[in-house]
Amino acid sequence: MAPKVWHATAMIDDLLARIAEFHRSRTPFPEFPMVAEVLDVLDEVRSPPTMPHRPRLDVVRHLATVAPTGADLAVDAIIEEFVRVGVDLPWRQTASYVEVLNADYLANYGYVQLVGPVPAIIEHPTVRVGLGLWGPGLFYPLHEHPAEELYHVLFGEPSFGTNTDEWRPAAPGDAVHHRPWQRHAQRFGDTPTVLLYCWVGDVASDAVLVGRGNDPSRV
Ligand SMILES: [Fe+2]
Repeated sequence: MAPKVWHATAMIDDLLARIAEFHRSRTPFPEFPMVAEVLDVLDEVRSPPTMPHRPRLDVVRHLATVAPTGADLAVDAIIEEFVRVGVDLPWRQTASYVEVLNADYLANYGYVQLVGPVPAIIEHPTVRVGLGLWGPGLFYPLHEHPAEELYHVLFGEPSFGTNTDEWRPAAPGDAVHHRPWQRHAQRFGDTPTVLLYCWVGDVASDAVLVGRGNDPSRV
């Protein structure tokens, strides 16, 4: 029998199509004009023939406990495909976070930048789209970025807030919007969390942590 050859061609096309389909399925769509720009890009881009090689991050192990829940078909469609191809995708961590956050956080955090400026899988200058994964019980300290951001919860029970105001719990399918430079933090629940993120505007600049005194300890 001939050896099995892994063809990466079109590897993330289904994932991108399911993300676009998800955005079209959301009722809050008119509240977030940025989604139209994101959809234009998702409809236009195509998977490259090969994936950039990246060392596998520890956080990827949490994909084993991520699965469709049956609560939202459009969410489940993304999760199903992300779990299928995720292990073979190039995972990243924000460079400035690696210098500051502790080993526990870094072993339980990572993201796949599907679309965006270099080094995204698909280069695009004005839109970022990606999927982030966090392990149970992490606290993502206060951070900010110049891009406008729309998160959608795909798996898990994260809460969103700042260091001072109330924490707002969120569930799969929920949208969380951040204006440019709006500071935000996240607390992650008892299961892994998967977030879909979209950025528009100044997407060239990464997020930065606000105040290095934050202790990224477990909740
Ligand atoms: Fe953000």
